[in-house]
Amino acid sequence: MITFNKEFKTFRIDTPNSTYCITISEKGYLAHSYYGSKIGNDDISYLTRQMEYGFSSSEVFREKHSLLDFLPQELPTDGVGDFRESALSIYNNNGNNGVELKYKDYKISEGTQTIPGLPAVFDRNSKSQVLEIITTDEVLGIEVSLMYTVFEELDAVIRYTKITNTKGKNPVYIKKALSASFDMDDNNYDMITLHGSWARERHIDRHPIHMGKQGVVSMRGETSHQEHPFIAILENKADENTGSVYGLNFIYSGNFVADVQKSQFNSLRIVMGINPENFSWKLNPGETFYTPQAVLVYSNQGINKMSQTFHDLYRNHLIRSEYRLKERPVLINNWEATYFNFDTEKLLSIAKEASKNKIEMLVMDDGWFGHRSSDDSSLGDWIVNENKLKGGLKYLVSEVNKLGLKFGIWFEPEMISPDSDLYRTHPDWAIQIPEREPGMSRQQLVLDITRKEVEEYAYEAVAKILRSANIEYVKWDMNRQLADIGSINLPSDQMGEFYHRYVLALYRMQEKLITEFPNLLLENCSGGGARFDPGMFFYSPQIWCSDDTDAIERLSIQEGTSIIYPLSTMGAHVSVCPNHACGRVTPFKTRGYVALSGTFGYELDITKLSDEERNQIPHQIELYKRYGDLIRTGDYYRIASYSQNNEYDCWMSAAKDKSKAIVTFIQVMNHPNYKTRFIKINGLDDNTLYKITFPDENQEQNPEIKMTGLTLRNAGIPVKRDWGDFQGKLIYIEKF
Ligand code: GLA
Repeated sequence: MITFNKEFKTFRIDTPNSTYCITISEKGYLAHSYYGSKIGNDDISYLTRQMEYGFSSSEVFREKHSLLDFLPQELPTDGVGDFRESALSIYNNNGNNGVELKYKDYKISEGTQTIPGLPAVFDRNSKSQVLEIITTDEVLGIEVSLMYTVFEELDAVIRYTKITNTKGKNPVYIKKALSASFDMDDNNYDMITLHGSWARERHIDRHPIHMGKQGVVSMRGETSHQEHPFIAILENKADENTGSVYGLNFIYSGNFVADVQKSQFNSLRIVMGINPENFSWKLNPGETFYTPQAVLVYSNQGINKMSQTFHDLYRNHLIRSEYRLKERPVLINNWEATYFNFDTEKLLSIAKEASKNKIEMLVMDDGWFGHRSSDDSSLGDWIVNENKLKGGLKYLVSEVNKLGLKFGIWFEPEMISPDSDLYRTHPDWAIQIPEREPGMSRQQLVLDITRKEVEEYAYEAVAKILRSANIEYVKWDMNRQLADIGSINLPSDQMGEFYHRYVLALYRMQEKLITEFPNLLLENCSGGGARFDPGMFFYSPQIWCSDDTDAIERLSIQEGTSIIYPLSTMGAHVSVCPNHACGRVTPFKTRGYVALSGTFGYELDITKLSDEERNQIPHQIELYKRYGDLIRTGDYYRIASYSQNNEYDCWMSAAKDKSKAIVTFIQVMNHPNYKTRFIKINGLDDNTLYKITFPDENQEQNPEIKMTGLTLRNAGIPVKRDWGDFQGKLIYIEKF
């Protein structure tokens, strides 16, 4: 898979359908020579264009600047003549910037490697390799290793860098250390990014690439609702099933940047890594800095194939939890049911009704601790409020268990309310700039978990509760973003380390949690889906997708999320109508179908549901048990997008062996004179005969159909009209 050709001075990373090449240039720089569909084992150094003349004001071979400013680079550096976006910027102790990396050596090793303190892809029953290309800057006295991991079955290259201060007595200051970068000629490419807001996460945005810089960032201390560490570069004719697509995603949960820069010679530079704004890292002699991993995926079969590669990578090589592919207990969460207004009696009445209807776990959300009865207090005081929970937590949990339900609980461990005993005792534990009044958000401040004693307190607060009762699930929330950055722990020349240290502390806390409670089902959350990122997958197999539980809003949110992340990871619940985020009323059945394409659960007061709705719950759970495995483990295909056609949405999970598939169809807008729609199904086997059924439909009006995969693909399945808006259908396809 990874080879080095001495004669061509070229490293090749071959995956089943792609080739990635790095060539050592005449002057010892690392040039990015190729990335795309497979190529032969030829000398491709011409692709670096080192011999070309006439397009620059000075000769390429004569002057360093003109060479560096057009050479396709593998890890472009700052300050020495490449004036495009850099991936590495380092200052020496005197304040001079400039990094010039020259090739030194390489290693190819079998298996994957861990990264200290950071999530990292790992091997599970497949063959993997790591390429390390070692470069040095003798003037700075640093060694920079470019690391590449590859799995035999996946069209993905996973990159990061290791920066070591190898020499001298002085520290150097890293101002920018991105994880991946590569250059290629523009070919009329488009770009896809994900954007959003609270309750509107990860909507897809596709636009042509223009001259100059464009991209996505977070400066919020977390991944964010607003922009996402993902970009795809794709041929403008590429669609879900055809064309070349390059996707980049970042295994990290803090500030990020992902940029595309189209430069004077019509070339693109694509970079991804920790956001350099407000970042610096002091590297003392002998120390090493590790960047998080960035994932590069190439597909020559459109966007769906790119998504499937990401899904397989994360399901098989990043999520560690035993729940990774397993059925999750069907939960009922009391947030939208009660908000802060609950007590033991209320929770038990929900649990009783839930157990009668085959629900398997009760999750107690925000408001069980301190004196919290709204969002204005008590974060940090993780002591059970016995006025609400009479008899204590242990009693509640054991009563819930007696009803045959598991018990789960909500925390927001990184936060502190000014109205809390914790704040009254340790006001300096909140992140703040001395003398500046810290800005509040949701009436709360953030704990400075970069301080050891604060990290320990926050961890122990959670662990103590978990040790006190039979708690089998935790929802770890984070409801505000970071600002007013200051820590009494850090000297002024290290204050720029804060954001990254914060993420490292978060990772440490969650690592400890899953080590101490190995069977715990951990769900991450951040005001909905602001921390939905692959970094968190290393610790939790599922993440709450959005506070918007409306079935129609969820179509765009789950579609955008599915661009990168598997359905098995998406927290999705059936809630009541009118929906609490947008007031829409949708059929209970449709809400069930949309939640089925996620972890599946309920977020409502089951005691207040109409009989008509409540009676659907056991059947919905039966559907989850019947199709859940296919949905969690299958290949996912986006078939039609409501956000593009304004009428309907359709998607499919197909078994890897193409023997069966479940299709979900949602008719969002109905119109008069609407004919039967023919839904074309790509992804099954052309020569196999399939039986198609509509499990939840009137069988007389929707009789079983038989057709080959070829007909399914080119002519499609007839989907009959339903009356009214927001109607859903399941279609089950099985080898005949
Ligand atoms: C966030 C979460 C919700 C809920 C509330 C509780 O908004 O996304 O699901 O837990 O916090 O305050």
